[in-house]
Amino acid sequence: MSARFDGTIALITGATSGIGKATALSLAAGGAHVLVVGRDPARGEAVVAAIRDGGGTAHYLPADLRTADSARLLARQAVQTGGGRVDILVNNAGIAPVGPTADMTEAEIDIALAVNVKVPFVLVGEIAPGMAERGKGAIVNVGTMVAEFGLAGMAIYGASKAALNLLTKAWAAEFGPRGVRVNSVNPGPTHTEGTARISAMQDQLAAHAPAGRAASAGEIASAIAYLASDDASYVNGAVVPVDGGRTAS
Ligand SMILES: NC(=O)c1ccc[n+]([C@@H]2O[C@H](COP(=O)([O-])OP(=O)(O)OC[C@H]3O[C@@H](n4cnc5c(N)ncnc54)[C@H](OP(=O)(O)O)[C@@H]3O)[C@@H](O)[C@H]2O)c1
Repeated sequence: MSARFDGTIALITGATSGIGKATALSLAAGGAHVLVVGRDPARGEAVVAAIRDGGGTAHYLPADLRTADSARLLARQAVQTGGGRVDILVNNAGIAPVGPTADMTEAEIDIALAVNVKVPFVLVGEIAPGMAERGKGAIVNVGTMVAEFGLAGMAIYGASKAALNLLTKAWAAEFGPRGVRVNSVNPGPTHTEGTARISAMQDQLAAHAPAGRAASAGEIASAIAYLASDDASYVNGAVVPVDGGRTAS
């Protein structure tokens, strides 16, 4: 077990599954006390149990993150559970409505913008000032490679994550002078529980990348863990592609 997160409190949204779960396991293995967030208590408690089995510590905080109020409530519970602070925030929970622009319902547009933009915005507003007061903190946002180029059927999803990536830079400018680093990871197609239904489509999309294959959740979690750690102490405002080279070529 490495000790690079020893003594830290890490709040990870969408940690009951996929990339968030892999990140929770990785940070906990590095010594972080992980606050595991998601809607499904069975999956949340299973992640906490896996962390404890590995010798780490964690709590499950249930939340359905669609509104500003839900984000504020979670932030307050997290600070309370964390003994007065959160040192690392990973804005990973996301939703990806897919389909033609003309078929997108207002509800699908609203939920994408709420989960992918509004909730991270409010969480950072609640958590980053405390980090800034203590002079240290790390925030990692999870975007997507399709925030960087147009992909038919992913317009609102890509646009919402492009907004999140711009927020990454704005927050680096706002909080960076007080010791808070804010970065993004932009994954390419990644096999997770959430994408199991569309894994064949993901493999087709991944074939366009130099790597020629989809990622595992652990490969994305490694980049998130790096940005959350002191190894990335001079990295701020970066949007890091973790897409097998897709957006480079
Ligand atoms: N997989 C990919 O190919 C890929 C590629 C690029 C970017 N990403 C991004 O990576 C992130 C994670 O993706 P994934 O594939 O690992 O997802 P996943 O396996 O479907 O997991 C999604 C997580 O988000 C949580 N979540 C969703 N809506 C929520 C809500 N309203 N309130 C609270 N939690 C909520 C889910 O928890 P519960 O179900 O327990 O609520 C779950 O823990 C997302 O932001 C996604 O956009 C994924």
